[in-house]
Amino acid sequence: MLSLEAICKRFGDVEVLSGISIEIEKGDTVGLVGPNGSGKTALINVVTGMHGADAGRVVYGGRDITGLGSHQISRSGIARTFQNLRLFPRMTVLENVDAAHNGLPGYNLYQLIFGDREVDKNHRQKSEWALEQVGLANERDRLAKTLPLPQLRRLEIARILARDPKLVFLDEPAGGMTQAETEAMAMLIADRVTPGRTSIVVEHKMSLIARVCRRVCVLNAGILIADEKPDVVFNLPQVIEAYLGRRIVNA
Ligand SMILES: Nc1ncnc2c1ncn2[C@@H]1O[C@H](COP(=O)(O)OP(=O)(O)OP(=O)(O)O)[C@@H](O)[C@H]1O
Ligand SMILES: [Mg+2]
Repeated sequence: MLSLEAICKRFGDVEVLSGISIEIEKGDTVGLVGPNGSGKTALINVVTGMHGADAGRVVYGGRDITGLGSHQISRSGIARTFQNLRLFPRMTVLENVDAAHNGLPGYNLYQLIFGDREVDKNHRQKSEWALEQVGLANERDRLAKTLPLPQLRRLEIARILARDPKLVFLDEPAGGMTQAETEAMAMLIADRVTPGRTSIVVEHKMSLIARVCRRVCVLNAGILIADEKPDVVFNLPQVIEAYLGRRIVNA
């Protein structure tokens, strides 16, 4: 389904991804963990076309997508959420999901100026369905900026569900959440996001990774240091070492 073949990425003199190779089977849910700055977001950025790779290939469904732009990649059924949320704060919750269908707000200038925000009916139905999936149907007319963080992260997930992608990347879906909020997010991912899709989940909260992932890849300083089942990976010496000796189960 997705093959990352020896991906390298540099920023200036710093190599932030050093020959990362990962094979992901269709339907699998893979965790991607590692200390701050280890390259998790950079890897998502390369695969989703936000950044070019300096070396290596990304092969998706048998097709080489290395170097394609993010819009082309998005059209091929790949979607992501952002660690630093990328929403439209002054648009409503529903409008934020509508906007996801086109990658940009789905309105032309006339519609923006005259407030005639008619959207494609098919898109609107999908937006409403997606908001139901994440438990935000009742918030649809609120401005996004008024939502608390856990709901904003759900809104990001609604934006990807609305497009029904085959492959999803979640970048810290429980970032900034309490333990109870994290558990609710883990349930949402397991129930609504991963079934029928291939998923890669980046998260520091290992309880969420252990709950939703069948396999965990660990990055440290741009190098893949482990690729194992969750119960194995958290006890590997090189993983414990990467986290400075801290046991990371349920961190
Ligand atoms: N646009 C950029 N320009 C320069 N350096 C960058 C850029 N983006 C990321 N980096 C560097 O690349 C390295 C990897 O960053 P990345 O954001 O992928 O880490 P991460 O594993 O996602 O960390 P975190 O858990 O904190 O989100 C870091 O050293 C970071 O400073
Ligand atoms: Mg990151």
